[in-house]
Amino acid sequence: MLVNAAEMLKKAEAGHYALGAFNTNNLEWTLAILQAAEEAQSPLIIQCSAGAAKWMGGLKVCADMVKACVESQDISVPVAIHLDHGTYEDCFKAIDAGFTSIMYDGSHEETFQINLDRTKELVEIAHSKGLSIEAEVGGIGGTEDGVTSNGELADPAECKQIAELGVDFLACGIGNIHGVYPDDWAGLSFDRLAEIKAEVGDLPLVLHGGSGIPEDQIKKAISMGVSKINVNTDLQIAFTTALHEYFAEGKDTQGKGYDPRKVLKPGREAIVARTRELMEQFGSVGMA
Ligand code: G3H
Ligand code: ZN
Repeated sequence: MLVNAAEMLKKAEAGHYALGAFNTNNLEWTLAILQAAEEAQSPLIIQCSAGAAKWMGGLKVCADMVKACVESQDISVPVAIHLDHGTYEDCFKAIDAGFTSIMYDGSHEETFQINLDRTKELVEIAHSKGLSIEAEVGGIGGTEDGVTSNGELADPAECKQIAELGVDFLACGIGNIHGVYPDDWAGLSFDRLAEIKAEVGDLPLVLHGGSGIPEDQIKKAISMGVSKINVNTDLQIAFTTALHEYFAEGKDTQGKGYDPRKVLKPGREAIVARTRELMEQFGSVGMA
């Protein structure tokens, strides 16, 4: 069942659990994540950046693929197809392509005022078409060209201003980082999370960079109002590790082990298993 993500996240916020928002990269990925959600009876946000969509042939291919898989696999749990880290222009393209939810990431705009103005405009457009919308305040750190920047801390007053525009859920930096966390990472800032939550009330908060954060920090963040946890790198590592083992054991040279379906099968199974584990950790199992 395809839906936007607003209701499922409101319920998660009220129920003190979180939904994983899992990035898809291809057909196998999509089928694996959907299988995990159905088996766990967990609501699901399946998301895709414009870059990953380009890899798959475009935003429309991605949206149509997810829709076709939901139908063909008889998926009964609610599923939202969400644009991840969209630019202003990407958001319009995703709406036209049939996404049910968008993220406008205005954190890279030249000024906060531009982020504010464009978020306001996109909230109106998304809601008029029945989509949910996520906005972002402050940047999320990460690794670029081998250099890891520290996780940023969003300004609570700016979070309040964006929240008041009527966004359905809000991404804000609390020390989280995209990609693999460095050994000297300082951890999440729960003080900043509490300050932001105090400003935005019951608005569901989004934790980007959800791969590799220690479980106790994940659980504490959920208890303090994080309702959506974005996961990409974690599943990429699960997939690649499984394929590495397949090749390391020489399975590609046994029988018809070179068949791409045989090669990709362990990766697909690893995604199902890891997605299930994360759904358990986030508390969304049985919440569909
Ligand atoms: O928007 C997507 C993410 O925030 C995923 O981050 O690759 O560190 O799991 P990750
Ligand atoms: Zn992100």
